[in-house]
Amino acid sequence: MILSPQHPLAAGLTHDSRLVRATRGVRSDTLPVWFMRQAGRSLPEYRELRVGTRMLDACLDPAMAAEITLQPVRRHGVDAGIFFSDIVVPLKLVGVDVEIQPGRGPVFGRAYGDAAAVAELTAIDPARLDEASAPIADAVARTVAELATITAPGAATTTPLIGFAGAPFTLAAYLAEGGPSKDHLAARTLMHADPGAWRALMEWTAELTGRFLRTQVVAGASAAQLFDSWAGGLSLADYERHVAPASAAALAHVHDLAYETTDAAGGAATHAVPVIHFGVGTGELLGAMGAIGVDVVGVDYRVPLDVAAQRVGEGVPLQGNLDPALLAAPRPALEAAVRDVVERGRTAPAHIFNLGHGVPPETDPAALTRVVELVHEIGR
Ligand code: CP3
Repeated sequence: MILSPQHPLAAGLTHDSRLVRATRGVRSDTLPVWFMRQAGRSLPEYRELRVGTRMLDACLDPAMAAEITLQPVRRHGVDAGIFFSDIVVPLKLVGVDVEIQPGRGPVFGRAYGDAAAVAELTAIDPARLDEASAPIADAVARTVAELATITAPGAATTTPLIGFAGAPFTLAAYLAEGGPSKDHLAARTLMHADPGAWRALMEWTAELTGRFLRTQVVAGASAAQLFDSWAGGLSLADYERHVAPASAAALAHVHDLAYETTDAAGGAATHAVPVIHFGVGTGELLGAMGAIGVDVVGVDYRVPLDVAAQRVGEGVPLQGNLDPALLAAPRPALEAAVRDVVERGRTAPAHIFNLGHGVPPETDPAALTRVVELVHEIGR
């Protein structure tokens, strides 16, 4: 499907942004920088806005979700907004009983860890999500309308929005357990105890989360990030056999979205929407995560970017990977670590500066603003 000419990518607003250029392997005047979980509890303006509203209610309030998405963009001058939502929102929208408990994460009314429970879940038609997605599309449209007036310091374009979704395995890690777990044992058990039920669960979550991602892109997101946060709990063999095909199926929902550009000489070109693939503890999986058909691989803080570049293979841009713990370290230690990440990132064709995982809630926002300034200064 061709995106509407008003879409920020097609309208020429974000196609040449630092972020989108980096996804094509092209470097700009300086490095693009944004932070996973940049919207959230580290910001006093977020905590103030969220008083009295539950997490998932905030996600389904278009004005609130748009405002929360924009807060870190205005405050830090980052090169992208990340849509304020959650990986379990599509489940909530099709009627699954799920809440997000502060300090804990997603908790379900029951666990979906055996064939009978999986059959109840997969009886829900994932296409039902499209009718329920109006608040998501509305929130994205409000966000990109405002982003069209915001430019990161020194940037040549307005700021793009990144849409995101949870990968099937990370969603299954919560679903099989009925809530957060340390080692995702229930999901890994189902995978081996009942491969048929596992496949059904993977196919269903892939379609649901793929539709969620597609909705955000069609509504105006200029890139898409698939979070497989807990894939690092898997062996490479299990990842490739039982998980990667479902992640690829989820991404198929955005891979057919295209837009057209015309260059100064009048030459027309068609582009796909860029996709970033991220997980935690994925040192052994980096090559396989790059191989499912993505533009950028996100790296956590355990593997230095120069090593990651070798593992992912030549020609693949990287995103990452400052250890979030450094945000609470004295300034000289923080700044030395930022310089090290930037230097190692030079071994990849292009680099999107980020943390190796999300912003810790107790982070001083001034440390984030300083990282943005420093990356823009030394990333030239
Ligand atoms: O700024 C952003 O990155 C955008 C928003 C975003 C949220 N969740 C908002 C949120 C994104 C991209 C996510 C994705 C998400 N949600 C992931 C993948 C990314 C990752 O961190 O690995 C996962 C695993 C979840 C599930 C989830 N939701 C967890 C583990 C938690 C934290 C629970 C806690 O309180 O510590 C949530 C809740 C959540 N999602 C919050 C935010 C801002 C905190 C809720 C609050 O402020 O009360």
